[in-house]
Amino acid sequence: NLTIVRTIEDLRSITNAWRRNGQTYAMVPTMGALHAGHLSLVELAQDQADHVLVSIFVNPTQFAPHEDFSSYPRTENDDCIKLSGYRIGAVFCPNAKEMYPEGFCTHVGLSGPAQGLESDFRPHFFQGVATVVTKLLLAAQPDIAIFGEKDFQQLRVIQRFAKDLNLPTEIQGGPTMRESDGLAMSSRNAYLSNEERTKSVQLITIMRQTAQRLQHGELCKAVLQDGLDALKAAGFKPDYLALHESQDLKPFTGSNLTQEQLGDYRLLAAACLGKTRLIDNIEV
Ligand code: PAJ
Repeated sequence: NLTIVRTIEDLRSITNAWRRNGQTYAMVPTMGALHAGHLSLVELAQDQADHVLVSIFVNPTQFAPHEDFSSYPRTENDDCIKLSGYRIGAVFCPNAKEMYPEGFCTHVGLSGPAQGLESDFRPHFFQGVATVVTKLLLAAQPDIAIFGEKDFQQLRVIQRFAKDLNLPTEIQGGPTMRESDGLAMSSRNAYLSNEERTKSVQLITIMRQTAQRLQHGELCKAVLQDGLDALKAAGFKPDYLALHESQDLKPFTGSNLTQEQLGDYRLLAAACLGKTRLIDNIEV
């Protein structure tokens, strides 16, 4: 009873009918391999609109040639079973030809919050995300679209280009869902061996310790260096552990946080454990 559509034309005939009937709809874009983090966004969508639209598309343009595009989990049947527990208006599952037909050559260019952090390690990632999310939002034109704080820089980038391009959709963030030991849920956690899964909890544990020291006003540079050292000692290869302003994602430039600054900053990290790259972030 789940409605699956694979073309933009079929998607539009559904969303146009909703709109004609004066009904609202909220969209949750995903790359599939759905877990409780994705489903928490579906619940937020359900609470706020007459219809929920989920998209599942493993977007090739946000993966670099050496990254995991071909091995990224594709579990459409299981995803649809998980979604059948919710009030879903439609699931949009286009193929790559539908999104990027022959001759496709237009991209969304970014600056501001897209600079630094992930971009230093995945230079083409946000252009790929921005282009596909713009296409998805223009194809569907939802009232609301919901993205996870798990990918905090991605959320800020999307909020920025949606505003700059006057996309007619309100962009909302949803809180990060975690496993019981604290590891942020991610489709990529499936890559972890048992041993790596045990070690992986150290990422959020070290981040929480780091955040606490920053909140106590200790010197930022030294605390972040200690955090990086602790990650290495725990077996990670860290890409970054950094403190940035929550709204515009500008790097913190002071020597230490003051009481008045608490709550306005975000500690963001990316680190590899074996072949798996994990990212996480928390409020400071
Ligand atoms: P994907 O990694 O499938 O994530 C889809 C959405 O779920 C994103 O908004 C992401 O932030 C959110 N999400 C992932 N893990 C979460 C967690 N543990 N708690 C809460 N939300 C979580 O992010 C993408 O796909 C793609 O880049 C996409 C935006 C779909 C563009 O291709």
